[in-house]
Amino acid sequence: MAVVRKVIVDKLMAQIAGREDSSSQVVFQNLELLQDTTAGRLVKLMDYYSVAMGRNCEFCHVIDKWADESKQDKKRSRLMIQITNAINREQLSKMPADEEGTPKIDCMTCHRGRNSPNKQIVP
Ligand code: HEC
Ligand code: HEC
Repeated sequence: MAVVRKVIVDKLMAQIAGREDSSSQVVFQNLELLQDTTAGRLVKLMDYYSVAMGRNCEFCHVIDKWADESKQDKKRSRLMIQITNAINREQLSKMPADEEGTPKIDCMTCHRGRNSPNKQIVP
């Protein structure tokens, strides 16, 4: 899986060569949440999403049609990004900082390499 993904990521990085440090919003087409980053960093983030879900890019995308919006999981991921940001900004910011700073969660905190993390288990 990682080998397949590397081929896809390398191809995409070649397509945006020279524009890695440009705004993601300028280089890509349908960004609603991840505009405040660079194009190169967005691709790295996508690789991370794949690892966190334990799935390849096609879980959320039609390969090579990255701006396409037909996959449900791309839309679900936008809600997930908003949930993650809200927990970090509104709730975890109230936790005391430790030596690594204020605690934050990310996709991996819950998903741990699985697209469907455990749901509520308390009786
Ligand atoms: C878990 C879901 C998920 C996975 C897996 C994922 N992506 Fe994405 N991707 C998204 C979401 C959501 C957006 C839109 C973000 C936004 O609206 O700001 C996006 C946007 C993009 C874009 C910008 C497209 C445009 O023009 O608007 C590219 C390029 C992209 N992804 C590439 C990849 C690649 C390459 C992989 C595999 C390494 C990958 N993605 C894996 C969810 C995913
Ligand atoms: C606080 C825990 C938590 C965090 C953080 C989190 N998720 Fe989720 N996610 C869940 C739960 C719970 C579900 C629902 C699982 C189910 O329906 O079986 C889910 C479902 C999903 C699904 C739908 C999976 C499916 O089966 O179709 C996607 C895609 C997803 N998350 C992406 C993300 C991404 C991308 C991030 C990081 C931006 C993220 N999640 C962060 C808990 C989390």
